[in-house]
Amino acid sequence: MLAGELVAFGTETVYGLGADATNGRAAADVFEAKGRPHFNPLICHYPDPESAFRDVEAGELARRLAMRFWPGPLTLVLPRRVTCGVALLAGAGLDTLAVRVPAHPAALALLRAVGRPVAAPSANRSGQVSPTSAEHVLDGLAGRIAAVLDSGPCPVGIESTVLDLSAGQPFVLRPGGVPQEALEAEIGRVHRGITPSAAETTRTLRSPGLLVSHYAPRLPVRLEADSVAADEACLAFGPPLPGSSLLFQLSAREDLAEAASRLFEGLRWLDREGLARGLRGIAVSPVPSIGLGLAVNDRLQRAAAPR
Ligand code: TXA
Ligand code: MG
Repeated sequence: MLAGELVAFGTETVYGLGADATNGRAAADVFEAKGRPHFNPLICHYPDPESAFRDVEAGELARRLAMRFWPGPLTLVLPRRVTCGVALLAGAGLDTLAVRVPAHPAALALLRAVGRPVAAPSANRSGQVSPTSAEHVLDGLAGRIAAVLDSGPCPVGIESTVLDLSAGQPFVLRPGGVPQEALEAEIGRVHRGITPSAAETTRTLRSPGLLVSHYAPRLPVRLEADSVAADEACLAFGPPLPGSSLLFQLSAREDLAEAASRLFEGLRWLDREGLARGLRGIAVSPVPSIGLGLAVNDRLQRAAAPR
């Protein structure tokens, strides 16, 4: 990585496509390898809050959240310091930077060894389902990256919550591994959606995580299904839907954390098996929009959005 090469690595959320964030050339290679249509800001990863807060200005809220949720699946968008050495391209030229300290021993060991901020979007081709195993990474990026550090399946399985603290009031830009309720228990009311400052930069900020169609398998996805057609596969949460011949169970006991951890694996598996069997779509059981269910439904809605 210090030589400018791209190295994918496991985190608690999904596998990241890592590059030395201070190396503009390496950041450019990340966009190229992913096939991102525009230059969108990347999240910078650090081994501890102190090193993260050397690159961004952290107020009291940020410090409280870092204390409570780092290391963990929370990304904070904060104003860049003038001394910040992250390549402008990695941050898409914005005056804010998204920073996170991941909770995975392999990721933390890598970050400590590199000793520089590591820019890492999810290690998938743009628009496709995020990877939760080293095998998923190679499915999409073999031949485009130098290495993948295989640390097994990702325990959380869904990307970090992106919280914008640069706009005066806290805004969740992307629901993820830390539920909104948990954030609110720590800092009070948190808004949902695009911040005014984010909207302003939306031309550059059309980042994959905010695009409507994203996380898309090749088969069309139908949400809130109460039954399955003969030519559909079933992504179940709780009791399998009547009529399903090809089934992937997110969580038989309706546990949202289990469902989040299995979501991308399930979409990939049903897509592959369903296509092999000539099926024409994926029907998905309803999932409640509480806790991690909000992030699960966010990803499902994008997977089902018109392409
Ligand atoms: O869990 C995760 O966050 C994974 C792992 C590898 O850490 N990373 C990830 O990165 O999901 P990516 O590039 O797929 O998604 C990055 C998202 C963007 O969609 C965007 O919403 C947000 O982070 N983002 C990054 N920089 C931002 C900024 N300066 N302002 C607003 N949003 C930003
Ligand atoms: Mg992504």
